[in-house]
Amino acid sequence: MAFPLNRPRRLRRTEVLRRMVRETRLSPDNLIQPIFVCPGRGVFNPINAMPGVAQLSPDMALREAREIAGAGVPAVILFGLPQHKDAIGSEAWSDNGSVQTAIREIKEHVPDLAVITDVCMCEYTDHGHCGAVKDGDVDNDATLELLRREALSHARAGADIVAPSDMMDGRVGAIRAVLDENGFARVPIMAYSAKYASAFYGPFREAAESAPKFGDRRSYQMDPANGDEALREVALDLQEGADIVMVKPALPYLDLIWRVKQEFKVPVAAYNVSGEYSMIRAAGINGWLDERRAAMEVLVGIKRAGADMILTYFAKQAARELNG
Ligand code: PBG
Repeated sequence: MAFPLNRPRRLRRTEVLRRMVRETRLSPDNLIQPIFVCPGRGVFNPINAMPGVAQLSPDMALREAREIAGAGVPAVILFGLPQHKDAIGSEAWSDNGSVQTAIREIKEHVPDLAVITDVCMCEYTDHGHCGAVKDGDVDNDATLELLRREALSHARAGADIVAPSDMMDGRVGAIRAVLDENGFARVPIMAYSAKYASAFYGPFREAAESAPKFGDRRSYQMDPANGDEALREVALDLQEGADIVMVKPALPYLDLIWRVKQEFKVPVAAYNVSGEYSMIRAAGINGWLDERRAAMEVLVGIKRAGADMILTYFAKQAARELNG
């Protein structure tokens, strides 16, 4: 049954035939748009390494949230910048912090937009690490208490989903317990389960002002060479009560998106991170590739690999394109 009987090109001949046999369909419902929220009013502070992305004060974040919802994107994930940083990142659980304020604004005015919050300490600590530092390393168990405070304050402000990204051991269980004890048993946890120590976070660290002041994150984020370990991390997070698990970044780890989906059959998110965005933007700005097509190809590829949800800085633009 080989050539000339089999001619795969027959089904590629026209757009209507291609539509009929298309296996993967990207929908705006698959997309989640990140927003960087900073203190103040009327602040729009562009990020040099991420053209098209800016730090926004809560009022500006609300404006952006309306546009994102208007494009048909169902959810945003908020990253916060504090007024002041300190050793334990105490502004992370301030009820008047930039993220908490933005959550309340968005939930009041755009209630149908799901608000996810990134739960981590690196934007709030003066040393830039994702937790409390002791003897030159992040103290796992001391950090759990800080994360519990932060997650609870996000839930109190009205977050629909909390998303811990710190990679401390046991943090999903610790956050699940504090939410349940305080009447937030209905708030799901999206766990950054397989989060790798990646060079592709570079532009984000400018946006979130969260680069570590000494060392790196390799004592808590995963080694890019490891795959089986990602499955163990996912299994632990599910045991501790994670509702959604994440693989991050997306492009160098498509095999893990696939393996996690095949193995666990739970909702899987993939984070198309800042560096993955910036390299397409940079090539597009230089005229080296067709940025819109490249972005759509990347997103459909991440979905084909098994992701149900894709966190991406292209979300609003891609949703508009999908809606014609
Ligand atoms: C916080 C956090 C990071 C990202 C999401 N949450 C940065 C890091 O771990 O250094 C990266 C997102 C991106 O690059 O777009 N820990």
